[in-house]
Amino acid sequence: MGYGFGKIILLGEHAVVYGHPAIAAALDSHRAEATACRSTDSVLTIEPWGKTVTAGALGPPGDTAIREAFESLLRSYDNNTSPVFVSVNVNVPAGAGLGCSAAIGVAIVRALDELFHIDRAPADVAALSLGWEKVFHGNPSGVDSAVAAHGGLVRFAKGHSLALLHIARPLHIVIALSNVGARTKEMVAFVAKQLSRDERRVVSVFGGIGSLVNKAQGAVEQGDLETLGHCMDLNHALLSSLLLSTPELELMCAEARLAGALGAKLTGSGGGGAILALASSSSCAQSIEERLASLSRQCFTVVVHASSHRKSPC
Ligand code: MEV
Repeated sequence: MGYGFGKIILLGEHAVVYGHPAIAAALDSHRAEATACRSTDSVLTIEPWGKTVTAGALGPPGDTAIREAFESLLRSYDNNTSPVFVSVNVNVPAGAGLGCSAAIGVAIVRALDELFHIDRAPADVAALSLGWEKVFHGNPSGVDSAVAAHGGLVRFAKGHSLALLHIARPLHIVIALSNVGARTKEMVAFVAKQLSRDERRVVSVFGGIGSLVNKAQGAVEQGDLETLGHCMDLNHALLSSLLLSTPELELMCAEARLAGALGAKLTGSGGGGAILALASSSSCAQSIEERLASLSRQCFTVVVHASSHRKSPC
């Protein structure tokens, strides 16, 4: 058996693809769980989606990416060529920018590792599962896979070891899903196109995002929620300047602020997906949830502690 966490990016998405840091938290109540056993064919089934793919066998076109991602993971186990049956259960909302695919990839790697008696550190689990993630996201920074494998609240930067952050005060974070799915591969490619056409502008936006991540890290470590919220608002503005927001995400952020959020921003790729709103307390989080209920297809609060997170349903 193996598991992988869903995640939220508090600050730093997109710039993180280009080497800047990001702060992200694992959602320990939203995760993928996989079981693996030896079989006659290599088959992956993702139970809640009713999807079953067989490695090496063509299936419906809509399942091609899942099959290719599965095959890519199996190729990493060259010495263990016997076929496997893998079953996945997942409660991370798909296409919401909450790291669903990375959680599944990490869970599958852990289940296969257990089956084949391989002992791997979380960083190596994350690295191996990137083969899966690349099929869905093209050019991922690796932040989703790293958080899915490690858990906790972390500072991630490509090529650096993950830093677990100290949290002076718990963070009450409302997550509200818009009615449009996140389009990670497309949005990452869209930013790359802007970078190639208008390098100075985009590089300076990335620099601004990186500075906000550093400032936000200090705020998290000192329990300065007002500053953290302000950094989130500014990070959202910079992401909007890259045309990654949508009218629906803008409306939800504005409503969250009116309901008392200390800061609000899109999370993940944008172009759809979800927003985060930082609340000063659990009652403030409840007011934000109530305000967003009619705008959001799903809304819930997570409490990020030093090393674990709790969720209360909307
Ligand atoms: C996706 O969760 C976050 C992005 O920064 C892409 C990535 O880091 O791979 C948009």
